[in-house]
Amino acid sequence: MQEHRIVTALATHGYCVVPHFFADTDALRDALLIASDAGALHRAGVGKGPQQQVRDEVRGDYVMWLEPSSTDPALRTYFDAMEALRLAINHHLYMGLFEYEAHFALYPPGAFYQKHLDGFVGDKRRKVSCVLYLNEEWQPEFGGHLRLYTTQGTLDIPPDAGTLVCFLSDDLWHEVRPATRTRLSVTGWFKIRPLP
Ligand code: OGA
Ligand code: MN
Repeated sequence: MQEHRIVTALATHGYCVVPHFFADTDALRDALLIASDAGALHRAGVGKGPQQQVRDEVRGDYVMWLEPSSTDPALRTYFDAMEALRLAINHHLYMGLFEYEAHFALYPPGAFYQKHLDGFVGDKRRKVSCVLYLNEEWQPEFGGHLRLYTTQGTLDIPPDAGTLVCFLSDDLWHEVRPATRTRLSVTGWFKIRPLP
């Protein structure tokens, strides 16, 4: 069972790479491209709330936030898979993951995301980051790797369709390397409950 493997890897290494986690990436990619053609994606910002800014030197991707209660079949399958993962992590690791937020992401050729952690200053509710790639027949020479800075050194993961990468949001530094092609993904975060 995939969830069990992910839970064990998160607990031992702080990250997990799962090729072929998700079968129907075609439908998700179509939904992303339709949204993009309709102009529904916007430049991703850096930071949170009023301090948020678009900064090309930090990140160059376009995003669209997704509705977890969506009835779109592709999104339903995706959010249901992530819900099963949330329950498995809570069951085994008692992390108290409470909700999941996710967005489509599109990196145009040349775009990157500098080395960073996923928590915000003053808001550490994000606990586990999950990136699902949607790029069919991606070739290594296209670039666009996710670079994880692990205790064992750097690990470069190609953004192949169906591959899921999960990691501890506050602990693992990572970056997105530039690609020569458009790079598509769904990125999300399991969050703990806000403090009262
Ligand atoms: C992010 C991020 C990684 C990727 O959106 O915060 O680090 O491989 N994405 O797209
Ligand atoms: Mn990140």
